[in-house]
This record gives sequence, structure tokens and C-alpha cells, in this order.
Amino acid sequence: MPTISGKHISYWIDSTPTTNFPSLSKNLSVDVAIVGAGIAGITAARLLKRAGKTVAVIESRQISTGVSGHTTAKITSLHQLIYADLIKNHGEEKARIYAQSNQAALEFVAKTVAEEQIDCDFSRQNAYTFAETDDNLKDIEKEVEAALKLGLPATFVCETSLPFPVAGAVKFENQAQFHSRKYLLHLIKQIPGDGSYVFENTTVEKVEENNLCQVTTNKGIIQAQDVIVTTNIPITDEGLFFAKTYPKRSYIIGARIADEKAPIGMYIGSGEKYYSIRTTPHKGGLLLLVGGGGHKVGTVENTEDKYLDLENYARSRFGVDSIDYRWSTQDFVSFDQIPYIGKLTPLSKHTFVATGFSLWGMTKGTLSGIILADKILGIENPAADLYDATRATPFVQIEGIKQNLQVGTHWIGDRLKGLNKSLEDVAIGEGKVVTVDGDKVAAYRDETGKIHAVSAVCSHLGCVVAWNSGEKSWDCPCHGSRFSCIGEVLHGPTVKDLKKF
Ligand SMILES: Cc1cc2nc3c(=O)[nH]c(=O)nc-3n(C[C@H](O)[C@H](O)[C@H](O)COP(=O)(O)OP(=O)(O)OC[C@H]3O[C@@H](n4cnc5c(N)ncnc54)[C@H](O)[C@@H]3O)c2cc1C
Ligand code: FES
Repeated sequence: MPTISGKHISYWIDSTPTTNFPSLSKNLSVDVAIVGAGIAGITAARLLKRAGKTVAVIESRQISTGVSGHTTAKITSLHQLIYADLIKNHGEEKARIYAQSNQAALEFVAKTVAEEQIDCDFSRQNAYTFAETDDNLKDIEKEVEAALKLGLPATFVCETSLPFPVAGAVKFENQAQFHSRKYLLHLIKQIPGDGSYVFENTTVEKVEENNLCQVTTNKGIIQAQDVIVTTNIPITDEGLFFAKTYPKRSYIIGARIADEKAPIGMYIGSGEKYYSIRTTPHKGGLLLLVGGGGHKVGTVENTEDKYLDLENYARSRFGVDSIDYRWSTQDFVSFDQIPYIGKLTPLSKHTFVATGFSLWGMTKGTLSGIILADKILGIENPAADLYDATRATPFVQIEGIKQNLQVGTHWIGDRLKGLNKSLEDVAIGEGKVVTVDGDKVAAYRDETGKIHAVSAVCSHLGCVVAWNSGEKSWDCPCHGSRFSCIGEVLHGPTVKDLKKF
């Protein structure tokens, strides 16, 4: 197997300082508790604090090191190809609200950056979705037509600055890109003080709504009038969002590129296999970011191949010499293409969630922060109904049945995982599900030869995890929970580590 290149860390995280906000050390009360410090949670926290509320942002790891620290950070209402489908499935009026609210979120970020002079490599860029061959050209043409109908800044073009020909592309003008972590680190600085807090390394285990809401963490309890759960996928199972979305993992590499070879603008392909492309300023030059290789979490074991494919693409298409970075992350795809933003359940009065951004959360996460802050502040938001998290979703039945069948298949397949495999079969640096005394064990052998054995049964709802070789993690194929090679939670919906043996 060829070796994979690049430092294994997100460029956004590697190029910014680490944060060290305190952990929760005593029980306390605030107006609003916000669980999860990604773009959705931080945007809501900033708006609520500015409106006079006291807030506590509670983050299990470090600020903006979740999906928002591993994104491609394009801020655009061009979500690959969506508008023709939205009009077909939801009608023109709803599609228009989706379009306008995402454009508004883009402008909200632009205004915030300008007003607060945030040094976050923000730049206006045109965004493109391209078809390389005539096969996907019809979809591009339909998208231009739909986007124009909705008042979006769309045109059809055949020429781009990509170093290869395209059959056609939809172009949205005046979109933007930024360094997501620099932006979020700036916003979070405004939170602590005057009765508001930011806590890191504090994991929320439970959220309950009684007279007051109670947020139970591993370090103490926070009481609040309202709670916003922005943990990418809610860690509270009541709303069943894990069954209304599916987790999609995708890969990114960063490579130094000469200015004259670099494309201008932000790009994404179309069809079965596509790549996402943009550049970002880096050490006086440019870093080319290429993303792709998306798949449902837990369904691909040899994920190194995903990086190799991106590397080949960057070398052959853009002539880059070396690969500097590689990283991957996941987001939850909403079955009806619309994110869930609002109350946790129809009975909830003070517990709110945001999820299902379908890999376009720079605008949708921003939008979530705005809508949820408005809800708590009693401000009418014209987009709130469209995104209602408790809505009935007819498409959930079609897509959901397909995905749930897959979950069912996992349940059956899970029983067979690890049969006839023992600890001796686990090579150095590798993980395998094995059977020990009838138990399914997730066994990882480290570089010194030591075995780390944890239960292979996911602590969420009991599926059996699968090994991910590129990230050296245990990934659950059912609803996307992920664990480190020694069983610590990396991504929800679960909040519990894998049981140690
Ligand atoms: C490969 C890839 C590329 C992408 N590129 C783009 C792009 O170019 N443009 C775009 O618009 N979108 C993009 N997206 C999507 C976008 O990055 C995400 O939708 C967005 O960052 C999600 O933000 P979030 O706030 O929901 O989640 P996060 O940023 O993950 O924040 C959630 C936080 O909650 C914390 N947390 C979890 N559980 C707990 C707990 N129990 N207690 C306390 N805290 C907890 C996590 O540690 C995390 O920090 C991309 C997604 C992927 C996968
Ligand atoms: S994530 Fe739900 S069972 Fe593992």
C-alpha cells in the first residue's frame, strides 16, 4: 500500500492557537445553556449574549474542533445541486425561503466580519457546481433555471478557471469563503463575563426540561430557562434525529499550489463521484483544498484509499508537488434536504436543536444560530416554519425506510462480525472486531504490540462498530457515533465511551 502524504490534522486547527477555557467546576444557573461549540452554537451564543441574556456554552472537547474545525468553509447558498429538487419536492415558496435564508446567512457572516474587522481570511468568491461531461449537463441546466426562478445570482457558464475543461457549470456570484476557526475563535472571545461562561472539556450527558431546564454534565449541573443543543447531531435521543438523517463522512487534503496554477473561485463537481475545490491563503502563498470520497459512516474500512484518491486527483489535475495536510469529518444529511432547526419535540417548550446541515453548515449553522436566538428572544423569523424540527417529513418515509433497512441489515450482519477472528489476527497498528468468550470485542494493537480491547457494541443503541483504518477509529454504521482506537467518544449521537474490557 503506498504511504499517504500530509500532516494528519485539519489546516484550520493547525493554523490557529489551541484554546483553554476552564471546565465546569461548580453548579450554576444561566438564562440559556448552549451545548456544543461549533458554528451553530457559537452563533446563537453571541446573538443571545448581545441581546442581554446570560449564556453558558458547554463543549466536550475544544471550541470549534468538531465539524466546524474540519470543514471546507465555503459560505454559499450554492449547495451543489438542490434547487430544482427543492422546487419539485417542496414547492417554489419553500424553496425560495431556503434560498433567501441561506443567502441571508452568508450576508450575516460578511456583515459580522466587516463590522468587527475579524481577521479570518474572509473573501468574496464566485461559487460553481460543474459537470465535466454531458452526462450531468441537464442537471446543471435545470439548477440554473430553478435558481434564477428563486432570485438567486445564478448563471450558466462553460468557461471556468479550472485547469481542465467542463461541459458546463452553474455559477453563483458574490459568495464567500473564510477560515472558519479564526472566525469562531473571534466570536467566542465575546462570551465569557457578566454572568456568561464558556466551558471546555465538559461533556453534557443529559438535558431535562421541567420548570427550569437541567443540563447534567460530567463535571456538574447547569440550570437554565432554555437549552440549545447544537452537538451536530443532538445527543438527546427524544427527537429521533438520528433516524431522520444519515451520517456522511468525507475527506480533505491541503496542498501548496503556485499562484498561477490556482483556480479562482470555489468549485464542486456533480454526478456519482465528485470533488470539492477551493484555495486558502497560507504562509504568503496558497493552499489548494480538495475534498471528496464521501460515504456513509462506518461502511468503509480502508479509508486510506480515500486520501490516496484525493492526492492523485490534486497531482494529476492541478500539478501540485506535495501534500501538506489531510483530514476528514462528517455531517448529518437530512432525508428531505432541509435542516431541522427548532424545538426538540412537539412537547418541548425550552429545548431547541439544530441538525441535518447536509455538508452545507456554514450558512445553515449560522442560520440555526439566528433562528434559535430569535425563538428564545421572542422574535418572529420568517424562515422558522420551513425548518421546524418537529415537522412531519414525508420523504423520511422513503429515504428513511431505505436507511433504516440498512440499519436493520447491520443488526443482522453485526451478529456475524468478528466470528472466527481472535486477538492473534490483529496486526500492529490495526483494529479488528474479534470474538472473545462469546463477546464482540473491538481490539486495536498499538505500535508497541499492546492490545487495547473495548466492547464492539456501540454505546448508543447497540450496533457493532467497524474499524476505520485512515483515522484509527471505531465508527458505528447505524447512526454515525465514532470512538477513538481506545474507545473514547469522538462524535455523537452517543455520549458514552465504549465499555472497557
Ligand atoms: C468534509 C466536509 C466539508 C464541508 N465543507 C463545507 C463547506 O465548504 N461549506 C459549508 O457550508 N459546510 C461545509 N460542511 C458542513 C459544515 O462544516 C457543518 O455542517 C458544520 O460545521 C456543523 O456545525 P455544527 O455546529 O453543527 O457542529 P460542530 O462544529 O461539530 O459542533 C458541535 C460541537 O458539539 C460538541 N459536542 C458533541 N457532543 C457533546 C456533548 N455531549 N457535550 C458537549 N459538547 C458536545 C462537539 O465537540 C462539537 O465541537 C462540510 C462538512 C464536511 C463533512
Ligand atoms: S450510533 Fe446509534 S447504534 Fe451506534
